[in-house]
Amino acid sequence: MRSKVSIIGAGMVAGTCAQRIAERGYADVVLLDIIEGLPQGKALDILESAPILGLDFRITGTNDYEDTANSEVVIITAGVSRKPGMSRDDLLLTNMKIIREVSTKIVQHSPNCIIIMVTNPLDAMVQLALHDTKFPRTRLFGQSGILDTGRFRTFIAQELDVSVEDVSAYVLGGHGATMVPLPRLCTVGGIPITELLPEEKISSIIQRTVKGGAEIVSLLKAGSAFYTPSAAVMEMVDAIILDKKRILPCATYLEGEYGINGVVVGVPVKLGKNGIEQIIELKLTPEEEEALKKSARAVQEIVSIMKLE
Ligand code: APR
Repeated sequence: MRSKVSIIGAGMVAGTCAQRIAERGYADVVLLDIIEGLPQGKALDILESAPILGLDFRITGTNDYEDTANSEVVIITAGVSRKPGMSRDDLLLTNMKIIREVSTKIVQHSPNCIIIMVTNPLDAMVQLALHDTKFPRTRLFGQSGILDTGRFRTFIAQELDVSVEDVSAYVLGGHGATMVPLPRLCTVGGIPITELLPEEKISSIIQRTVKGGAEIVSLLKAGSAFYTPSAAVMEMVDAIILDKKRILPCATYLEGEYGINGVVVGVPVKLGKNGIEQIIELKLTPEEEEALKKSARAVQEIVSIMKLE
């Protein structure tokens, strides 16, 4: 039987995710939105590209959760983005309502699925969905670290004029201003960047990485990044459906790892057919550990606004 991947919300991130995943060919894709016609239109447009691309995939658009039944993986992108005049708390409470509704319906139809959260504020939305669905943390986590790491790797490769293929990097922590890029563990062809770039340069690359989302928003004017977020989601779906056991940074509920308990933050995990199969505990310096704990406190503050009992 073919695998099924459903994507909730058929906006910019979801449409690009749908295209990328459909083109992988290993799963049927279902795109769902509350807006009538939007998921159907995007799915049909992607489907009609198959003969030209020489590919054979199945993708459908729908407004009915019944069509998502028995998905192996469900990606949540539904939500609103911050509009002018809207506070961060307004955004949080609006998306909270949406995630509550969406995650409940997903679980009714696909009780054994693995859920990848994309909606912001990311870490808080993962924590909310875990609370509501009672899913184990191994099957519900968020995309953020791969996106942040992708930005970090891009800027390093540009600076050194080398292939991005040879740059590996780690970004831990919450998906926001307190994220924790780890230059000590960032390497180019195995050489730490601390040996290749001066400290000021590394620090400006880190600053640009932390503000990477805002940089795209300021250029696009309307809307936020979607090409790289969707590529990051695709890498996670690949790891799960193909049981690749990749080591990737994911927004994960910690239960004592890194000295953090009961908060969702980004850490490296092993991702395979069972979802998170292992949480990798890196040995951090005292400064890195403090930065990660500070990031966890920032997530905890946002979560506390939701008053989850
Ligand atoms: N059920 C299903 N879909 C919904 C619901 C709901 N209750 N509420 C909103 N949506 C849909 C909207 O109709 C819209 O099509 O979610 C979609 C969101 O798409 P966009 O506004 O284009 O947002 P996008 O850029 O894709 O970002 C989605 O990912 O990176 C994050 O911050 C970003 O939280 C945002 C999410």
